[in-house]
Amino acid sequence: MTDFIYSAPTKVVFGRGAEEHVGELARENGGTNVLVHFGGKSALASGLVGRICRSLENAGIKFETLGGVVPNPRLSKVEDGIAICREKEIDMVIAAGGGSVIDSAKAIAMGTRADRPVWDFYSGKAEPNRDCLPVGAVLTLAAAGSEMSSSSVITNEDGDIKRGCNNESYRPKFAVLNPELTMTLPSWQTFSGIADIIMHTMERFFTKSGDHSMLTDSIAFSLIRTVIASARILLKNPGDYDARAEIMWAGSLSHNDLTGMRSNGDWATHQLEHELSGMFDVTHGAGLTAIWPAWARYVFTSDISRFAELAGGVFGISGAGDRENAVSGIEAMESFFAEIGMPTRIRDLSRQEGVSLKWGDYVVAELARKASFDGKRTLGAVRKLERADMENIYRKAW
Ligand code: NZQ
Ligand code: ZN
Repeated sequence: MTDFIYSAPTKVVFGRGAEEHVGELARENGGTNVLVHFGGKSALASGLVGRICRSLENAGIKFETLGGVVPNPRLSKVEDGIAICREKEIDMVIAAGGGSVIDSAKAIAMGTRADRPVWDFYSGKAEPNRDCLPVGAVLTLAAAGSEMSSSSVITNEDGDIKRGCNNESYRPKFAVLNPELTMTLPSWQTFSGIADIIMHTMERFFTKSGDHSMLTDSIAFSLIRTVIASARILLKNPGDYDARAEIMWAGSLSHNDLTGMRSNGDWATHQLEHELSGMFDVTHGAGLTAIWPAWARYVFTSDISRFAELAGGVFGISGAGDRENAVSGIEAMESFFAEIGMPTRIRDLSRQEGVSLKWGDYVVAELARKASFDGKRTLGAVRKLERADMENIYRKAW
């Protein structure tokens, strides 16, 4: 087993009505004047923002509100939030929403006390600012895992560039997880979220050969099997509380590094997807399922036994040789993605409302240029992908 440091400092309050605790959680973490940050309409329409504000009031905490975060959250909204935090002397940011709102809250928390543009931390121009406001999260969508993660992903409208930044300092101090809050989700978002949770676990699973841990692998298999079984329950009964609860907890554990205690993982599918959602504004989880089958078929010969282990651990596929088992495992995962209504090719992303895809050699070259940072970085662990490989995968995924 490789050496590691594990730290999951986020306090989790889980269950029905958990958002009633926001006031005391904010106070515990030193909040006296809070920015409550949310998205387009769902958190307002469900009354969640009102309940959070009441809980803060009851705890004697002042607050400001800022809504309007869109999926694939934009830099301009982050800059609005930073201006408010500075002007109103905010000392904590609480996100009420999915990954986009939480990521936007993290960026605001990092930018408020920074002496340079916040985008510098995402573009790699500067090391992340460690002097962040504390962040809290009230989750409404099980997907990105941002409620316990140290990452934030922001899109700069200037060039449609989507970039992630890792910073321990804005990992949420607390995460409020009430599965009931996910009941209002459209099915597309529920299942895109489920795909993202599985992908966070698979990305970490695909390490270089030899970097494995039996315990960590078993946790990963169990997590993916639980999510698949719960997804099948939700296909029949979207209102099943227990299935939503399993998925919500799995979402947090899939991205708080618990399933990554061996090495950094592969992450090529995520990086290739970020360029797609940056360019076409597709839903992140759906972008992942559109790319993963092509990625898997492109790289699996570089580590056939690892793919065979996944097939056995998740789908119980065994008996044939490793190569056949590996191929069957990829097919089984692809079929599951299709079963939950997710696209398994890029062209099928046009099923998403409001998405209009352009395709051709120029688009493929542009996606690979961005994903490879102009040819300056490779992606992946199973197989190192050069810019030409990235182009090939985008083409095969179409
Ligand atoms: O704006 P509202 O009206 O709230 O609608 C949102 C949004 O349109 C809606 N929604 C959320 N909760 C709802 C709801 N609608 C009804 N009822 C509810 N309870 O869902 C839509 C999508 O929300 P969004 O926050 O964008 O989804 P998700 O949680 O999947 O987050 C995606 C973002 O997270 C990034 C992705 O790249 C993407 O930008 N990621 C962040 C990571 C991290 N910080 O660790 C890791 C991930 O791999 C990912 O890259
Ligand atoms: Zn993801």
